[in-house]
Amino acid sequence: MTAIESPAGDNGLALAVLNSVQNPVILVDRAGHVAFANWEAESFFGASAAQLARHEISGLIPFGSPLLALIDQVRERKAPVNEYRVDLSSPRLGQDKLVDLYVAPVVSEPGCVVVVFQERSMADKIDRQLTHRAAARSVTGLASMLAHEIKNPLSGIRGAAQLLETSVPDEDRSLTRLICDETDRIVSLVDRMEVFSDERPVDRQPINIHSVLDHVKAIAKAGFGRDVRISENYDPSLPPVYANRDQLVQVFLNLVKNAAEAVGDEADGEILLTTAYRPGIRLSVAGSREKISLPLEFCVIDNGPGVPTDLLPNLFDPFVTTKTNGSGLGLALVAKIIGAHGGIVECDSQSRRTVFRVLMPMHKEASSVEPAASLTTTGKAK
Ligand SMILES: Nc1ncnc2c1ncn2[C@@H]1O[C@H](COP(=O)(O)OP(=O)(O)O)[C@@H](O)[C@H]1O
Ligand SMILES: [Mg+2]
Repeated sequence: MTAIESPAGDNGLALAVLNSVQNPVILVDRAGHVAFANWEAESFFGASAAQLARHEISGLIPFGSPLLALIDQVRERKAPVNEYRVDLSSPRLGQDKLVDLYVAPVVSEPGCVVVVFQERSMADKIDRQLTHRAAARSVTGLASMLAHEIKNPLSGIRGAAQLLETSVPDEDRSLTRLICDETDRIVSLVDRMEVFSDERPVDRQPINIHSVLDHVKAIAKAGFGRDVRISENYDPSLPPVYANRDQLVQVFLNLVKNAAEAVGDEADGEILLTTAYRPGIRLSVAGSREKISLPLEFCVIDNGPGVPTDLLPNLFDPFVTTKTNGSGLGLALVAKIIGAHGGIVECDSQSRRTVFRVLMPMHKEASSVEPAASLTTTGKAK
């Protein structure tokens, strides 16, 4: 153990220091053997320092790893080097072993080098996962961050503006009003995002989907859908869907609102709500050979211009919008809610016929409804 047991003396202290370092540190001697490993390195390589000492470094890391070339380079140049994002994944070290490396020569021991490993953070690993899952997670995190970091200061700003309102001259009052209105707008946006961070389980019961759709139609008729014809084509014998009623109302409100906005003021604009029982629809679940059945079909169909083709692949992602005042959260929320209910939502869009189709599992017993979390939403263009 060359460097550590150098004549300088206080080996015990040097060892204690190295073992307190939360990064793996090894010493590679002239012959390429691992002459020293701190505790963190023992756990990194899954072997004791004594076992490691019997190995050459080349036998411990993946064949052809850039670390070997780095060690040679340091020996030759007698100067330290850093290398970032080196992949050391192997059956021995495990998957996703992405590290930063610091390699330095030991001045007093020619040919010996110290290697310090810095494991890349979790965030890096998540980066390499499926992007939509990472996206969903980041929205969840972002939403709860916004709720804490933005809403509180905003209420302070609003309060201050209200106080000012009483003391500013009349002609400036529109400015204090502007501050209040704009802070209100941000708060309501944050509120809308907050539903994404709500991971609490929801109450579910057997729900008559037709009563939900009729309720949504009534809301639409009283406001944003006043001028659009809304007709329905229901299957009256449809069994109930096991769901949270408020969330279903939210889902169909979002879909009907988008449909109403799509048809705009077209004189022949029309929205059609349909329900049907389709026992034939079976879907494969990722990671399992089993197929699940989603026989309850609810559609919101409009005869607007259709979803722009370039939007389709990301249609259900948050912040995707073509509207000047759109939030792009409507469909993301639809996908989140339907996914949590074990269903899927898909879009089939062509000019003058855009179908948003929600497929839900059959309610057998309350406990038998499992969320099919691995199912994803799909967008299809014709
Ligand atoms: N029925 C529809 N017809 C055409 N385009 C649609 C329809 N529904 C949604 N879209 C498109 O999808 C985008 C995202 O919708 P959404 O998530 O509800 O956000 P927002 O309504 O705030 O824009 C819309 O901006 C629009 O471009
Ligand atoms: Mg919308």
